[in-house]
Amino acid sequence: MSSDKITPAAILAMKARGEKIAALTAYDFPMARLLDEAGVPLLLVGDSVGMVVLGYPDTTHVTMAEMEHHVRAAARAKTRALLGADLPYRSYETVAEAVANAQRLIAAGAGYVKAEGGREILPQVQAILAAGIPFCGHLGMLPQHVLEEGGYKIKGRQEAEHQKLLDDARALADAGAFAVVLELVTPPVAKEISQAITAPTIGIGSGPDCDGQILVTHDLTGMFPWFTPRFVKPTVHCGAKIKAAVQDWKSSVEAKN
Ligand code: KIV
Repeated sequence: MSSDKITPAAILAMKARGEKIAALTAYDFPMARLLDEAGVPLLLVGDSVGMVVLGYPDTTHVTMAEMEHHVRAAARAKTRALLGADLPYRSYETVAEAVANAQRLIAAGAGYVKAEGGREILPQVQAILAAGIPFCGHLGMLPQHVLEEGGYKIKGRQEAEHQKLLDDARALADAGAFAVVLELVTPPVAKEISQAITAPTIGIGSGPDCDGQILVTHDLTGMFPWFTPRFVKPTVHCGAKIKAAVQDWKSSVEAKN
């Protein structure tokens, strides 16, 4: 494997070669470094940091300052992987805000930014790309809209929703997004979108036919054992392992009384 830094063009080329893309979230130096050493090519300082690290009930509480803090920490790992960051809730309401906040995340060390939405944010997406900032789309269930939608709902079951997802994905890819996350999209619709656009789709809870898969690392590793999404099967239970190690150490300290 080459040791060259992974670029958005390299992620696009993986789809062209038919290679599946593994992506994970990383919010700090050790996790970014571990995932990079494991060979994961695409990393995201997701605003899910708000829920699994900062203890907020949803991602709508995450601020730009918090995102910058975590991007700086993860970027210090100087990963070969392409490391990007979420524009948080209400940080891209206007074109000017979108570009200014995307530039702040890039200055903090991100190699791309991601924002939630389709054609309704297309002017912001076009302006971010025109500013020379690589962009990743995010369609389907949009966690920043959880309060308006009243929960985390699967998307693509209704015909109108199916068509909107397809049109939004085409619009983002045509604008120049190097990838599009599909969250909780019905597997047949996710498959159809993946076949319809040249940019790779990165699925989360959207079935096996996306061009890549992303998970919140804390879900995959059992680091946030109080809630695990239905579509994740943790492969290790780090939370339980930490608790057991700490209990053993505590007992050894107390035994020396
Ligand atoms: O915030 C996040 O971590 C995300 C991914 C799960 C796609 O948006």
